[in-house]
Amino acid sequence: MNPATKTPSSLLRYCRAGFETECAGEVTASMAALSIAGDLRAEPGFVEYRFDAPLDASASGVLSDWRRAIFARQSLLAFAHLQSLARADRLTPIMAILVERGERYVDAWVEAPETDEGKALAPFCKSFGNALIGGLKKARLLDPHAPRRLHAFFPQSDNVYLAAADPGLSAPWPQGIPRLKFPRDAPSRSTLKLEEALLTLLDGGERERWLKPGMNSVDLGAAPGGWTWQLVRRSLRVTAVDNGPMDAALMQSGLVVHAREDGFRFRPKKPVDWMVCDMVEQPRRIAELVARWFADGWCRHSIFNLKLPMKKRYAETMLCLDLIRGKLAGAGREVELRAKQLYHDREEITVFCRLRK
Ligand SMILES: C[S@@+](CC[C@H](N)C(=O)[O-])C[C@H]1O[C@@H](n2cnc3c(N)ncnc32)[C@H](O)[C@@H]1O
Repeated sequence: MNPATKTPSSLLRYCRAGFETECAGEVTASMAALSIAGDLRAEPGFVEYRFDAPLDASASGVLSDWRRAIFARQSLLAFAHLQSLARADRLTPIMAILVERGERYVDAWVEAPETDEGKALAPFCKSFGNALIGGLKKARLLDPHAPRRLHAFFPQSDNVYLAAADPGLSAPWPQGIPRLKFPRDAPSRSTLKLEEALLTLLDGGERERWLKPGMNSVDLGAAPGGWTWQLVRRSLRVTAVDNGPMDAALMQSGLVVHAREDGFRFRPKKPVDWMVCDMVEQPRRIAELVARWFADGWCRHSIFNLKLPMKKRYAETMLCLDLIRGKLAGAGREVELRAKQLYHDREEITVFCRLRK
């Protein structure tokens, strides 16, 4: 492998347009924690951190793990950045680097940021994707048994980052966007948020172990029932807490009890396996409520939304997560928190919390 492109030169994180500051804040905090020097650049729909010195393997593992990043839809280690590509032939210089580097890839994705400019590149990405796959095949660099996937990320059509990703550490969807199909009989579009949360915040084994038919759950702020629908679909029993009306067909499943109560006052009669919460409220109030549920042993797992304020969204996120950790440490309980701004989230993040002991 060519030494110039052997080691990653930068971290690349795709994010929701408008959340570059939060994504950059999170990258800055990670680099400080890992003592990695470099230069940060936030561009519409993504953030790049260019390393001053080669990364060691353990830092590479931490930084490229997309699940650990809250404000990133994808997290990649890039090994090359080519600018001012000639419109007539972008493939030749890209293939020159790939051939020199010599790594084989299981697949190749051509992507752009999810901004208006990036969306306009969709037809180009599609056609260039075919050309790139053709080039890789010809150079014998496409191999179904290779461990990594190639990403060619185009912020503009003459500007590309090349990155190699371990499918186990990176988001399994192009652009980090899960294109989920809206289930026809689900009562609200919010259902996609919980579906994406379960796909993103838990792995396959965890979904199987922690979401079993017959488990009990509580859905705070449930109406009309999109989140409840996801739980019922997995045969969980649900107490749906909301003063608003629940979808009639969902109620006929026989698995849902509707409690017309205030979600902040509701207490389950017995501890439940899951508490989910989509109430539109100040994030700190939700964080306090979640901490209370875990401190008092009312649930073992939770997924909840934190609606972020207009300003200081990264600081508020950290404050809420620290608040939960701190309150529970004080109660002698240890929890694991995983948070993400999902594709189906807007001005909010979604958090998974579970009791460790
Ligand atoms: C965003 S909607 C929930 C949508 C729902 N997750 C779904 O998928 O259909 C927020 C809901 O929270 C409810 N809500 C807000 N404050 C509440 C409270 N204090 N107690 C119970 N429900 C509340 C509202 O009535 C509303 O139905």
